[in-house]
Amino acid sequence: RCYTIESTNNLYIHYGFMALYYCIEAMVLCIIRPSRKVVRGQTVLVTGAGSGIGQRLAVSFAKLGCQIVGLDISEAGMKETAKLIRELDTKVAFHPYKCDLSDRLNVNEVGDKVKSDVGDVDILINNAGIVTGKEILDCPDKMMVKTMEVNTMAHFWTIKAFLPAMMEKNSGHVVTIASGAGLLFGLPALLDYCASKFGAVGLSESLDLELWQQKKDGVHVTVVCPYYIDTGMFKGVHTPVIPILKADYAVEQMVDAILRNKRMLLLPFFSYIIYALKGIIPSKAMYVVGEAFGINTSMETFIGRK
Ligand SMILES: NC(=O)c1ccc[n+]([C@@H]2O[C@H](COP(=O)([O-])OP(=O)(O)OC[C@H]3O[C@@H](n4cnc5c(N)ncnc54)[C@H](O)[C@@H]3O)[C@@H](O)[C@H]2O)c1
Repeated sequence: RCYTIESTNNLYIHYGFMALYYCIEAMVLCIIRPSRKVVRGQTVLVTGAGSGIGQRLAVSFAKLGCQIVGLDISEAGMKETAKLIRELDTKVAFHPYKCDLSDRLNVNEVGDKVKSDVGDVDILINNAGIVTGKEILDCPDKMMVKTMEVNTMAHFWTIKAFLPAMMEKNSGHVVTIASGAGLLFGLPALLDYCASKFGAVGLSESLDLELWQQKKDGVHVTVVCPYYIDTGMFKGVHTPVIPILKADYAVEQMVDAILRNKRMLLLPFFSYIIYALKGIIPSKAMYVVGEAFGINTSMETFIGRK
């Protein structure tokens, strides 16, 4: 392309105005919050639907009148989710699929089965996650690989399975349940977990931009980065200053963010301040902040799940 100096200047003025417009739009949307979208009748797929956040998200969307597709390696967990959804008496369908998200071929196979049994998915929630909680030299290679496979790689395979139909209709939503440890800070004894979550955040951000460039503004992308939540995944962690989030509260906030098509949700609220600080203050100053809040040492008492 050949630009004259004048047309190049005009182009940059245009970009400047557009950037300013979106800043003002964001500020306005902070005050006048966008209304919640109606999801009744839609199909929501939740990975890791057999426990914790995933189970609560499945139940919450069932309450909103969505049919739920649950993917989990735990059949016992899915039975419990099925029972909770049945008890709602909303008559929405729950379709449980046993799936090992660390196995790409299994994810593809289950993805095809979901499409032929249930049809297209309107909201895809990549939620399943695992954590080993060991320092780098003690962490078994196998668990590091599995952590990357479940927490990051599986997202690629589910997105590849369900995004094409969303793009064709220019309607849908891809949600990533990442972590504050995938955006705000890396932590000792969580190297593979943090790497996997930073990866998931990067995937979500890039996907959002890809869709924006392709003018697929009907397909929304949300990434959620919470602090510790009391589901049992991080059983034993000790955080003397910042209280561990209650799972019901965290899920309520997540559902609200999805229904308002929010691009990023950080929990709790002051995480936004830490996020802003991270870009300004030096790393060592951030380490001291982490030390003061007991975050750096929070994993020392970690027990986690078996
Ligand atoms: N609990 C927290 O403190 C916390 C904080 C920040 C982010 N998160 C993230 O939220 C998400 C949900 O966490 P949670 O607290 O509900 O955890 P959880 O352990 O209660 O649930 C995880 C679910 O994933 C399933 N799963 C694990 N490995 C799988 C595999 N290979 N294939 C299929 N399913 C598999 C499990 O069976 C389980 O049902 C995770 O991605 C986690 O990293 C959790």
